[in-house]
Amino acid sequence: MTDNNHKPMINSARKRTASRPDTIRFEFDDRFRFIGTNRTYAIETHGCQANEADSEHLAALCEAMGFSPALSLAQADLILINTCAVRENAEQKVFGEIGRLKQYKEKNPDLIIAVSGCMPQEEVVVDKILKKYRHVNLVFGTHNLHLFPEYLEKVIHDKGQLIDVLSMEGCIVEDLPALRKNRFKAWVNIMYGCDEFCTYCIVPYTRGKERSRDKADIIKEVRSLIDEGYQEITLLGQNVNSYGLDLPGETQSFADLLADLSQLPIPRIRFTTSHPKDFSNELITVLSQGGNLMPHIHLPVQSGSDRILKAMNRKYTRDHYLNLIRSLRIAIPGVSITTDIIVGFPSETDVDFADTLSLVQEARFEGAYTFIYSPRSGTPAAAYRDDVPVSQKKIRLQLLNQHINEGYLAGNQRFAGKIVPVLVEGVSKTDLTRLSGYTPHNKIVNFKGPMDLIGKIIPVRITQVRTWSLTGELANLNPKTR
Ligand code: SAH
Ligand code: SF4
Ligand code: F3S
Repeated sequence: MTDNNHKPMINSARKRTASRPDTIRFEFDDRFRFIGTNRTYAIETHGCQANEADSEHLAALCEAMGFSPALSLAQADLILINTCAVRENAEQKVFGEIGRLKQYKEKNPDLIIAVSGCMPQEEVVVDKILKKYRHVNLVFGTHNLHLFPEYLEKVIHDKGQLIDVLSMEGCIVEDLPALRKNRFKAWVNIMYGCDEFCTYCIVPYTRGKERSRDKADIIKEVRSLIDEGYQEITLLGQNVNSYGLDLPGETQSFADLLADLSQLPIPRIRFTTSHPKDFSNELITVLSQGGNLMPHIHLPVQSGSDRILKAMNRKYTRDHYLNLIRSLRIAIPGVSITTDIIVGFPSETDVDFADTLSLVQEARFEGAYTFIYSPRSGTPAAAYRDDVPVSQKKIRLQLLNQHINEGYLAGNQRFAGKIVPVLVEGVSKTDLTRLSGYTPHNKIVNFKGPMDLIGKIIPVRITQVRTWSLTGELANLNPKTR
Protein backbone atom coordinates (compact mmCIF):
# COMPACT_ATOMS: atom_id res chain seq x y z
CA MET A 1 0.00 0.00 0.00
CA THR A 2 1.40 3.42 -0.89
CA ASP A 3 1.32 6.47 1.37
CA ASN A 4 -1.61 7.74 -0.68
CA ASN A 5 -3.86 4.99 0.58
CA HIS A 6 -6.48 5.48 3.29
CA LYS A 7 -8.34 2.56 4.78
CA PRO A 8 -11.66 2.84 6.65
CA MET A 9 -11.82 2.47 10.43
CA ILE A 10 -14.96 1.29 12.18
CA ASN A 11 -14.22 3.22 15.36
CA SER A 12 -14.03 6.53 13.54
CA ALA A 13 -17.17 5.62 11.59
CA ARG A 14 -19.05 5.27 14.87
CA LYS A 15 -18.25 8.81 15.94
CA ARG A 16 -20.92 11.50 16.08
CA THR A 17 -20.29 15.13 17.00
CA ALA A 18 -22.61 18.12 17.20
CA SER A 19 -20.74 20.11 14.57
CA ARG A 20 -22.45 21.04 11.32
CA PRO A 21 -20.82 19.25 8.37
CA ASP A 22 -19.02 21.21 5.66
CA THR A 23 -20.88 21.95 2.45
CA ILE A 24 -18.71 21.69 -0.64
CA ARG A 25 -19.84 23.34 -3.87
CA PHE A 26 -18.60 21.10 -6.63
CA GLU A 27 -17.01 22.53 -9.76
CA PHE A 28 -15.65 20.29 -12.46
CA ASP A 29 -11.95 20.92 -13.01
CA ASP A 30 -11.22 21.31 -16.73
CA ARG A 31 -7.91 19.56 -16.44
CA PHE A 32 -9.84 16.27 -16.20
CA ARG A 33 -11.90 16.91 -19.34
CA PHE A 34 -9.97 14.57 -21.64
CA ILE A 35 -9.18 11.64 -19.33
CA GLY A 36 -11.82 9.49 -21.02
CA THR A 37 -11.47 10.59 -24.63
CA ASN A 38 -11.97 7.56 -26.91
CA ARG A 39 -12.65 5.38 -23.87
CA THR A 40 -15.84 3.79 -22.63
CA TYR A 41 -17.29 3.24 -19.16
CA ALA A 42 -19.76 0.90 -17.48
CA ILE A 43 -21.23 1.29 -14.00
CA GLU A 44 -22.92 -1.49 -12.09
CA THR A 45 -25.03 -0.49 -9.12
CA HIS A 46 -26.03 -2.60 -6.12
CA GLY A 47 -28.08 -1.64 -3.07
CA CYS A 48 -30.57 1.07 -2.30
CA GLN A 49 -31.71 4.28 -3.97
CA ALA A 50 -28.88 6.18 -2.26
CA ASN A 51 -26.47 4.15 -4.35
CA GLU A 52 -28.55 4.56 -7.48
CA ALA A 53 -28.45 8.31 -7.00
CA ASP A 54 -24.67 8.18 -6.41
CA SER A 55 -24.21 6.16 -9.59
CA GLU A 56 -26.06 8.85 -11.54
CA HIS A 57 -23.52 11.39 -10.26
CA LEU A 58 -20.61 9.08 -11.07
CA ALA A 59 -21.97 8.51 -14.60
CA ALA A 60 -22.20 12.27 -15.13
CA LEU A 61 -18.60 12.66 -13.94
CA CYS A 62 -17.50 9.90 -16.37
CA GLU A 63 -19.14 11.73 -19.26
CA ALA A 64 -17.70 15.08 -18.14
CA MET A 65 -14.28 13.38 -18.38
CA GLY A 66 -15.04 12.38 -21.97
CA PHE A 67 -15.92 8.70 -21.44
CA SER A 68 -18.81 7.34 -23.49
CA PRO A 69 -21.12 4.53 -22.32
CA ALA A 70 -19.89 1.00 -23.14
CA LEU A 71 -22.26 -1.46 -24.78
CA SER A 72 -21.33 -4.12 -22.24
CA LEU A 73 -18.98 -4.70 -19.30
CA ALA A 74 -16.73 -6.81 -21.55
CA GLN A 75 -16.16 -3.85 -23.87
CA ALA A 76 -15.60 -1.16 -21.25
CA ASP A 77 -12.28 0.60 -20.60
CA LEU A 78 -13.49 1.64 -17.15
CA ILE A 79 -15.66 -0.60 -14.98
CA LEU A 80 -17.05 0.82 -11.76
CA ILE A 81 -18.89 -1.41 -9.29
CA ASN A 82 -20.92 0.67 -6.84
CA THR A 83 -21.50 -1.71 -3.94
CA CYS A 84 -23.88 -2.38 -1.04
CA ALA A 85 -22.83 -3.75 2.35
CA VAL A 86 -26.21 -4.30 3.95
CA ARG A 87 -26.19 -8.11 3.75
CA GLU A 88 -23.48 -10.73 3.52
CA ASN A 89 -24.83 -12.60 0.45
CA ALA A 90 -24.92 -9.40 -1.61
CA GLU A 91 -21.26 -8.85 -0.71
CA GLN A 92 -20.33 -12.37 -1.75
CA LYS A 93 -21.92 -11.76 -5.14
CA VAL A 94 -19.87 -8.61 -5.60
CA PHE A 95 -16.65 -10.40 -4.72
CA GLY A 96 -17.54 -13.11 -7.27
CA GLU A 97 -18.10 -10.44 -9.84
CA ILE A 98 -14.86 -8.59 -9.09
CA GLY A 99 -13.06 -11.92 -9.42
CA ARG A 100 -14.58 -12.48 -12.85
CA LEU A 101 -13.42 -9.06 -14.05
CA LYS A 102 -9.84 -10.32 -13.94
CA GLN A 103 -10.35 -12.06 -17.31
CA TYR A 104 -11.26 -8.73 -18.93
CA LYS A 105 -8.12 -7.19 -17.50
CA GLU A 106 -6.04 -9.97 -19.01
CA LYS A 107 -7.52 -9.16 -22.42
CA ASN A 108 -7.27 -5.39 -21.96
CA PRO A 109 -4.39 -4.44 -19.62
CA ASP A 110 -5.41 -0.76 -19.78
CA LEU A 111 -8.82 -1.58 -18.30
CA ILE A 112 -9.46 0.33 -15.07
CA ILE A 113 -11.51 -1.43 -12.41
CA ALA A 114 -12.96 0.70 -9.62
CA VAL A 115 -14.99 -0.31 -6.56
CA SER A 116 -17.03 2.31 -4.71
CA GLY A 117 -19.99 2.65 -2.36
CA CYS A 118 -20.70 1.02 0.98
CA MET A 119 -18.52 -2.11 0.88
CA PRO A 120 -15.23 -0.17 0.86
CA GLN A 121 -16.36 1.55 4.06
CA GLU A 122 -15.66 -1.78 5.83
CA GLU A 123 -12.11 -2.53 6.89
CA VAL A 124 -12.47 -6.23 6.15
CA VAL A 125 -13.46 -5.54 2.57
CA VAL A 126 -10.53 -3.23 1.90
CA ASP A 127 -8.14 -5.76 3.46
CA LYS A 128 -9.52 -8.47 1.21
CA ILE A 129 -9.16 -6.33 -1.92
CA LEU A 130 -5.60 -5.44 -0.97
CA LYS A 131 -4.75 -9.09 -0.46
CA LYS A 132 -6.74 -10.99 -3.04
CA TYR A 133 -7.98 -8.60 -5.71
CA ARG A 134 -4.86 -6.82 -6.90
CA HIS A 135 -6.46 -6.26 -10.32
CA VAL A 136 -8.74 -3.62 -8.77
CA ASN A 137 -7.16 -0.22 -9.50
CA LEU A 138 -9.26 2.14 -7.43
CA VAL A 139 -11.29 1.85 -4.25
CA PHE A 140 -13.23 4.74 -2.77
CA GLY A 141 -16.23 5.02 -0.46
CA THR A 142 -19.41 6.99 0.02
CA HIS A 143 -17.87 10.26 1.21
CA ASN A 144 -15.69 11.16 -1.75
CA LEU A 145 -17.54 10.70 -5.04
CA HIS A 146 -16.61 14.24 -5.99
CA LEU A 147 -12.93 13.26 -6.02
CA PHE A 148 -13.49 10.49 -8.61
CA PRO A 149 -11.91 12.42 -11.54
CA GLU A 150 -8.83 13.19 -9.44
CA TYR A 151 -8.48 9.53 -8.41
CA LEU A 152 -8.85 8.32 -11.99
CA GLU A 153 -6.17 10.65 -13.22
CA LYS A 154 -3.80 9.38 -10.52
CA VAL A 155 -4.57 5.74 -11.26
CA ILE A 156 -4.06 6.17 -15.00
CA HIS A 157 -0.80 7.99 -14.36
CA ASP A 158 0.66 5.79 -11.59
CA LYS A 159 -0.87 2.48 -12.71
CA GLY A 160 -0.96 1.25 -9.09
CA GLN A 161 -3.76 0.49 -6.69
CA LEU A 162 -5.31 3.54 -5.02
CA ILE A 163 -7.47 3.14 -1.94
CA ASP A 164 -9.09 6.24 -0.51
CA VAL A 165 -11.87 5.57 1.98
CA LEU A 166 -12.74 8.20 4.54
CA SER A 167 -14.29 7.14 7.84
CA MET A 168 -15.93 10.37 8.76
CA GLU A 169 -19.25 11.83 9.67
CA GLY A 170 -19.46 13.08 6.10
CA CYS A 171 -19.94 16.36 4.30
CA ILE A 172 -22.58 17.64 1.91
CA VAL A 173 -21.57 18.06 -1.71
CA GLU A 174 -23.80 20.36 -3.74
CA ASP A 175 -23.86 20.92 -7.50
CA LEU A 176 -22.58 17.48 -8.49
CA PRO A 177 -23.87 16.82 -12.00
CA ALA A 178 -26.23 13.84 -12.46
CA LEU A 179 -26.91 11.70 -15.51
CA ARG A 180 -30.33 10.38 -14.59
CA LYS A 181 -31.36 6.93 -15.77
CA ASN A 182 -35.04 7.66 -15.95
CA ARG A 183 -36.24 10.58 -18.09
CA PHE A 184 -39.43 11.21 -16.12
CA LYS A 185 -38.68 10.20 -12.52
CA ALA A 186 -35.79 11.62 -10.50
CA TRP A 187 -34.21 10.89 -7.13
CA VAL A 188 -33.65 13.91 -4.92
CA ASN A 189 -31.49 13.42 -1.84
CA ILE A 190 -32.78 15.53 1.01
CA MET A 191 -30.36 14.16 3.58
CA TYR A 192 -27.42 11.80 3.92
CA GLY A 193 -26.30 9.31 6.55
CA CYS A 194 -28.16 7.77 9.47
CA ASP A 195 -28.05 8.23 13.24
CA GLU A 196 -30.50 5.50 14.18
CA PHE A 197 -28.04 2.68 14.82
CA CYS A 198 -30.53 -0.16 14.52
CA THR A 199 -28.45 -2.96 16.04
CA TYR A 200 -28.34 -5.12 12.88
CA CYS A 201 -27.55 -2.36 10.41
CA ILE A 202 -24.27 -1.24 8.88
CA VAL A 203 -25.60 1.87 7.13
CA PRO A 204 -24.76 4.36 9.96
CA TYR A 205 -21.13 3.22 9.65
CA THR A 206 -20.96 3.27 5.84
CA ARG A 207 -22.88 6.50 5.26
CA GLY A 208 -21.90 8.64 8.24
CA LYS A 209 -23.88 11.02 10.38
CA GLU A 210 -27.36 12.23 9.52
CA ARG A 211 -27.04 15.53 7.68
CA SER A 212 -29.75 17.48 5.90
CA ARG A 213 -29.35 19.51 2.76
CA ASP A 214 -30.44 23.13 2.92
CA LYS A 215 -34.02 23.55 1.86
CA ALA A 216 -33.01 26.20 -0.69
CA ASP A 217 -30.68 23.72 -2.42
CA ILE A 218 -33.40 21.07 -2.54
CA ILE A 219 -35.95 23.48 -3.97
CA LYS A 220 -33.43 24.70 -6.56
CA GLU A 221 -32.83 21.10 -7.69
CA VAL A 222 -36.55 20.33 -7.90
CA ARG A 223 -37.21 23.50 -9.90
CA SER A 224 -34.57 22.57 -12.44
CA LEU A 225 -36.03 19.05 -12.70
CA ILE A 226 -39.43 20.62 -13.43
CA ASP A 227 -37.82 22.77 -16.15
CA GLU A 228 -36.30 19.61 -17.64
CA GLY A 229 -39.76 18.01 -17.86
CA TYR A 230 -39.60 15.53 -14.97
CA GLN A 231 -43.02 14.29 -13.84
CA GLU A 232 -42.08 12.68 -10.55
CA ILE A 233 -39.53 13.11 -7.78
CA THR A 234 -38.69 10.74 -4.94
CA LEU A 235 -37.13 12.40 -1.91
CA LEU A 236 -34.39 10.22 -0.47
CA GLY A 237 -32.97 9.70 2.99
CA GLN A 238 -32.40 6.73 5.31
CA ASN A 239 -34.91 8.34 7.66
CA VAL A 240 -36.60 11.24 5.88
CA ASN A 241 -38.79 11.95 8.91
CA SER A 242 -35.84 13.39 10.78
CA TYR A 243 -35.04 15.84 7.97
CA GLY A 244 -33.98 19.25 9.25
CA LEU A 245 -33.37 18.36 12.88
CA ASP A 246 -29.65 18.97 12.38
CA LEU A 247 -30.05 22.27 10.54
CA PRO A 248 -29.05 25.45 12.36
CA GLY A 249 -31.52 28.19 13.29
CA GLU A 250 -35.26 27.75 13.27
CA THR A 251 -36.36 24.15 13.45
CA GLN A 252 -37.28 22.79 10.07
CA SER A 253 -39.19 19.59 9.64
CA PHE A 254 -39.86 17.09 6.91
CA ALA A 255 -43.54 18.09 7.09
CA ASP A 256 -42.59 21.74 6.30
CA LEU A 257 -40.30 20.68 3.47
CA LEU A 258 -42.99 18.47 1.95
CA ALA A 259 -45.62 21.21 2.29
CA ASP A 260 -43.32 23.63 0.44
CA LEU A 261 -42.41 21.14 -2.28
CA SER A 262 -46.06 20.24 -2.84
CA GLN A 263 -46.65 23.85 -3.96
CA LEU A 264 -44.28 23.38 -6.90
CA PRO A 265 -45.69 22.32 -10.28
CA ILE A 266 -44.36 18.75 -10.18
CA PRO A 267 -47.14 16.18 -10.78
CA ARG A 268 -45.91 13.49 -8.40
CA ILE A 269 -43.91 13.50 -5.16
CA ARG A 270 -42.83 10.38 -3.28
CA PHE A 271 -40.36 9.83 -0.45
CA THR A 272 -38.41 6.99 1.11
CA THR A 273 -37.63 5.84 3.78
CA SER A 274 -39.78 6.80 6.77
CA HIS A 275 -38.90 5.61 10.24
CA PRO A 276 -42.11 4.76 12.17
CA LYS A 277 -40.86 6.39 15.36
CA ASP A 278 -40.63 9.89 13.81
CA PHE A 279 -43.80 10.00 11.73
CA SER A 280 -45.33 13.19 13.10
CA ASN A 281 -48.97 14.30 13.15
CA GLU A 282 -47.92 17.38 11.16
CA LEU A 283 -46.59 15.07 8.46
CA ILE A 284 -49.83 13.09 8.40
CA THR A 285 -51.78 16.34 8.06
CA VAL A 286 -49.64 17.49 5.14
CA LEU A 287 -50.01 14.11 3.43
CA SER A 288 -53.79 14.22 3.87
CA GLN A 289 -53.90 17.15 1.41
CA GLY A 290 -53.23 14.63 -1.37
CA GLY A 291 -52.68 16.44 -4.68
CA ASN A 292 -49.17 15.71 -5.89
CA LEU A 293 -48.26 13.83 -2.68
CA MET A 294 -48.67 10.21 -3.76
CA PRO A 295 -50.76 7.81 -1.62
CA HIS A 296 -48.01 5.25 -1.09
CA ILE A 297 -45.88 5.04 2.03
CA HIS A 298 -42.95 2.71 2.56
CA LEU A 299 -42.79 2.20 6.30
CA PRO A 300 -40.31 -0.51 7.37
CA VAL A 301 -41.54 -2.36 10.47
CA GLN A 302 -38.76 -5.02 10.63
CA SER A 303 -40.60 -7.22 13.16
CA GLY A 304 -44.00 -7.60 14.82
CA SER A 305 -42.57 -8.63 18.20
CA ASP A 306 -41.97 -5.96 20.83
CA ARG A 307 -39.11 -7.95 22.29
CA ILE A 308 -37.32 -8.17 18.94
CA LEU A 309 -38.06 -4.53 18.08
CA LYS A 310 -36.35 -3.59 21.33
CA ALA A 311 -33.35 -5.80 20.60
CA MET A 312 -33.17 -4.17 17.17
CA ASN A 313 -33.17 -0.69 18.78
CA ARG A 314 -36.10 0.39 16.63
CA LYS A 315 -37.52 2.61 19.41
CA TYR A 316 -41.22 1.89 18.77
CA THR A 317 -43.64 -0.86 19.71
CA ARG A 318 -45.96 -2.99 17.66
CA ASP A 319 -48.91 -0.96 19.00
CA HIS A 320 -47.31 2.33 18.04
CA TYR A 321 -46.76 1.02 14.53
CA LEU A 322 -50.33 -0.30 14.11
CA ASN A 323 -51.81 2.92 15.51
CA LEU A 324 -49.72 4.91 13.06
CA ILE A 325 -51.08 2.83 10.19
CA ARG A 326 -54.62 3.39 11.42
CA SER A 327 -54.06 7.16 11.46
CA LEU A 328 -52.54 7.05 7.98
CA ARG A 329 -55.50 5.08 6.62
CA ILE A 330 -57.94 7.62 8.07
CA ALA A 331 -56.00 10.65 6.84
CA ILE A 332 -55.18 9.26 3.37
CA PRO A 333 -58.10 7.09 2.22
CA GLY A 334 -56.93 4.15 0.12
CA VAL A 335 -53.25 4.68 1.00
CA SER A 336 -50.96 1.81 0.02
CA ILE A 337 -48.47 0.79 2.69
CA THR A 338 -45.38 -1.32 2.04
CA THR A 339 -42.66 -2.40 4.44
CA ASP A 340 -39.34 -4.15 5.13
CA ILE A 341 -39.15 -7.18 7.43
CA ILE A 342 -36.21 -9.17 8.78
CA VAL A 343 -36.68 -12.80 9.89
CA GLY A 344 -34.31 -14.81 12.06
CA PHE A 345 -32.91 -11.95 14.14
CA PRO A 346 -30.89 -13.41 17.06
CA SER A 347 -33.17 -15.03 19.66
CA GLU A 348 -36.32 -14.76 17.47
CA THR A 349 -38.69 -17.53 18.64
CA ASP A 350 -41.69 -19.08 16.92
CA VAL A 351 -43.85 -16.81 19.07
CA ASP A 352 -41.97 -13.69 17.95
CA PHE A 353 -42.31 -14.78 14.36
CA ALA A 354 -46.04 -15.45 14.83
CA ASP A 355 -46.29 -11.84 16.06
CA THR A 356 -44.70 -10.71 12.80
CA LEU A 357 -47.20 -12.73 10.75
CA SER A 358 -50.16 -11.37 12.69
CA LEU A 359 -48.87 -7.82 12.29
CA VAL A 360 -48.64 -8.40 8.54
CA GLN A 361 -52.32 -9.42 8.54
CA GLU A 362 -53.39 -6.47 10.65
CA ALA A 363 -51.37 -3.91 8.77
CA ARG A 364 -52.64 -5.07 5.34
CA PHE A 365 -49.33 -4.41 3.62
CA GLU A 366 -49.42 -4.23 -0.15
CA GLY A 367 -45.83 -5.32 -0.59
CA ALA A 368 -42.64 -5.88 1.35
CA TYR A 369 -38.95 -6.44 1.01
CA THR A 370 -38.26 -9.43 3.23
CA PHE A 371 -34.83 -10.53 4.40
CA ILE A 372 -33.08 -13.20 6.37
CA TYR A 373 -31.01 -11.57 9.13
CA SER A 374 -27.36 -11.26 8.15
CA PRO A 375 -24.77 -10.46 10.86
CA ARG A 376 -22.64 -7.43 9.90
CA SER A 377 -19.29 -7.13 11.56
CA GLY A 378 -18.94 -4.03 13.73
CA THR A 379 -22.67 -3.75 14.47
CA PRO A 380 -23.98 -4.52 18.00
CA ALA A 381 -26.11 -7.47 16.83
CA ALA A 382 -23.04 -9.17 15.37
CA ALA A 383 -22.04 -9.84 18.98
CA TYR A 384 -25.38 -11.55 19.74
CA ARG A 385 -25.59 -15.30 19.27
CA ASP A 386 -26.96 -15.94 15.75
CA ASP A 387 -29.00 -18.79 17.17
CA VAL A 388 -31.89 -19.29 14.77
CA PRO A 389 -30.96 -22.27 12.54
CA VAL A 390 -30.62 -21.47 8.83
CA SER A 391 -33.33 -24.00 7.95
CA GLN A 392 -35.71 -22.26 10.38
CA LYS A 393 -34.86 -18.84 8.91
CA LYS A 394 -35.65 -20.12 5.44
CA ILE A 395 -39.00 -21.60 6.49
CA ARG A 396 -39.93 -18.33 8.20
CA LEU A 397 -39.00 -16.32 5.12
CA GLN A 398 -41.09 -18.57 2.91
CA LEU A 399 -44.12 -18.37 5.20
CA LEU A 400 -43.78 -14.63 5.49
CA ASN A 401 -43.55 -14.24 1.71
CA GLN A 402 -46.76 -16.23 1.27
CA HIS A 403 -48.58 -13.78 3.54
CA ILE A 404 -46.99 -10.80 1.82
CA ASN A 405 -47.98 -12.08 -1.63
CA GLU A 406 -51.59 -12.37 -0.54
CA GLY A 407 -51.36 -8.71 0.44
CA TYR A 408 -49.90 -7.78 -2.95
CA LEU A 409 -52.82 -9.44 -4.71
CA ALA A 410 -55.48 -8.00 -2.39
CA GLY A 411 -53.93 -4.55 -2.85
CA ASN A 412 -54.07 -4.90 -6.62
CA GLN A 413 -57.59 -6.30 -6.65
CA ARG A 414 -59.08 -3.11 -5.31
CA PHE A 415 -58.24 -1.47 -8.65
CA ALA A 416 -60.09 -4.01 -10.86
CA GLY A 417 -62.34 -2.13 -13.30
CA LYS A 418 -61.19 1.29 -12.01
CA ILE A 419 -59.68 4.07 -14.09
CA VAL A 420 -56.29 5.14 -12.73
CA PRO A 421 -53.77 7.77 -13.85
CA VAL A 422 -50.57 6.12 -15.12
CA LEU A 423 -47.21 7.81 -15.66
CA VAL A 424 -46.08 6.02 -18.83
CA GLU A 425 -42.38 5.18 -18.59
CA GLY A 426 -41.78 3.17 -21.75
CA VAL A 427 -42.25 -0.19 -23.40
CA SER A 428 -43.04 -3.10 -21.06
CA LYS A 429 -39.98 -5.20 -20.19
CA THR A 430 -41.96 -8.43 -20.47
CA ASP A 431 -44.04 -7.64 -23.58
CA LEU A 432 -42.59 -5.33 -26.23
CA THR A 433 -46.03 -4.71 -27.74
CA ARG A 434 -47.24 -2.97 -24.60
CA LEU A 435 -46.46 0.20 -22.68
CA SER A 436 -45.82 0.26 -18.98
CA GLY A 437 -46.06 2.76 -16.16
CA TYR A 438 -46.99 3.34 -12.52
CA THR A 439 -50.15 4.47 -10.73
CA PRO A 440 -50.19 6.93 -7.79
CA HIS A 441 -50.19 3.88 -5.45
CA ASN A 442 -47.02 2.69 -7.22
CA LYS A 443 -48.65 -0.27 -8.96
CA ILE A 444 -47.18 -1.24 -12.30
CA VAL A 445 -49.67 -1.29 -15.21
CA ASN A 446 -49.12 -2.76 -18.70
CA PHE A 447 -51.38 -1.72 -21.56
CA LYS A 448 -51.46 -1.21 -25.31
CA GLY A 449 -51.08 2.32 -26.62
CA PRO A 450 -49.10 4.60 -28.94
CA MET A 451 -45.46 5.40 -28.15
CA ASP A 452 -46.13 9.13 -27.97
CA LEU A 453 -47.79 8.55 -24.58
CA ILE A 454 -44.37 7.86 -23.06
CA GLY A 455 -43.62 10.52 -20.45
CA LYS A 456 -47.28 11.50 -20.00
CA ILE A 457 -49.76 10.79 -17.22
CA ILE A 458 -52.86 9.24 -18.79
CA PRO A 459 -56.03 7.46 -17.61
CA VAL A 460 -55.99 3.66 -17.89
CA ARG A 461 -58.84 1.27 -17.09
CA ILE A 462 -57.70 -1.83 -15.19
CA THR A 463 -58.93 -4.97 -16.94
CA GLN A 464 -56.88 -7.71 -15.30
CA VAL A 465 -55.25 -8.07 -11.90
CA ARG A 466 -52.27 -10.27 -11.07
CA THR A 467 -50.10 -10.54 -7.96
CA TRP A 468 -47.22 -8.52 -9.40
CA SER A 469 -48.87 -6.34 -12.03
CA LEU A 470 -52.03 -4.85 -13.46
CA THR A 471 -53.17 -4.97 -17.08
CA GLY A 472 -55.26 -2.20 -18.53
CA GLU A 473 -56.53 -0.39 -21.59
CA LEU A 474 -56.48 3.27 -22.50
CA ALA A 475 -59.58 4.63 -20.82
CA ASN A 476 -60.34 7.43 -23.26
CA LEU A 477 -60.15 5.14 -26.34
CA ASN A 478 -63.09 3.04 -25.21
CA PRO A 479 -65.92 5.45 -24.40
CA LYS A 480 -68.63 2.78 -24.94
CA THR A 481 -67.40 0.54 -22.15
CA ARG A 482 -66.99 3.35 -19.66
N1 SAH B 1 -33.02 3.24 6.19
C1 SAH B 1 -33.95 2.34 5.70
C2 SAH B 1 -33.45 1.08 5.03
C3 SAH B 1 -32.06 0.69 5.09
S1 SAH B 1 -31.54 -0.88 4.56
C4 SAH B 1 -34.85 2.00 6.84
O1 SAH B 1 -34.55 2.11 7.98
O2 SAH B 1 -35.91 1.57 6.55
C5 SAH B 1 -32.95 -1.66 3.88
C6 SAH B 1 -33.46 -2.81 4.64
O3 SAH B 1 -32.48 -3.83 4.73
C7 SAH B 1 -33.81 -2.54 6.08
O4 SAH B 1 -35.06 -1.93 6.22
C8 SAH B 1 -33.78 -3.91 6.70
O5 SAH B 1 -35.02 -4.55 6.58
C9 SAH B 1 -32.76 -4.64 5.84
N2 SAH B 1 -31.52 -4.89 6.58
C10 SAH B 1 -30.65 -3.99 7.08
N3 SAH B 1 -29.64 -4.60 7.71
C11 SAH B 1 -29.86 -5.93 7.61
C12 SAH B 1 -29.19 -7.09 8.07
N4 SAH B 1 -28.07 -7.00 8.79
N5 SAH B 1 -29.72 -8.31 7.78
C13 SAH B 1 -30.85 -8.41 7.08
N6 SAH B 1 -31.54 -7.35 6.61
C14 SAH B 1 -31.05 -6.12 6.87
FE1 SF4 C 1 -30.24 1.08 9.08
FE2 SF4 C 1 -31.99 1.64 10.96
FE3 SF4 C 1 -30.65 3.62 9.77
FE4 SF4 C 1 -32.49 2.28 8.41
S1 SF4 C 1 -32.86 3.57 10.22
S2 SF4 C 1 -30.45 2.82 7.71
S3 SF4 C 1 -32.30 0.22 9.21
S4 SF4 C 1 -29.79 2.06 11.09
FE1 F3S D 1 -26.61 -0.82 0.84
FE2 F3S D 1 -25.28 1.32 1.43
FE3 F3S D 1 -27.78 1.51 0.65
S1 F3S D 1 -25.21 -0.58 2.54
S2 F3S D 1 -28.67 -0.38 1.38
S3 F3S D 1 -26.09 0.79 -0.58
S4 F3S D 1 -26.77 2.77 2.15
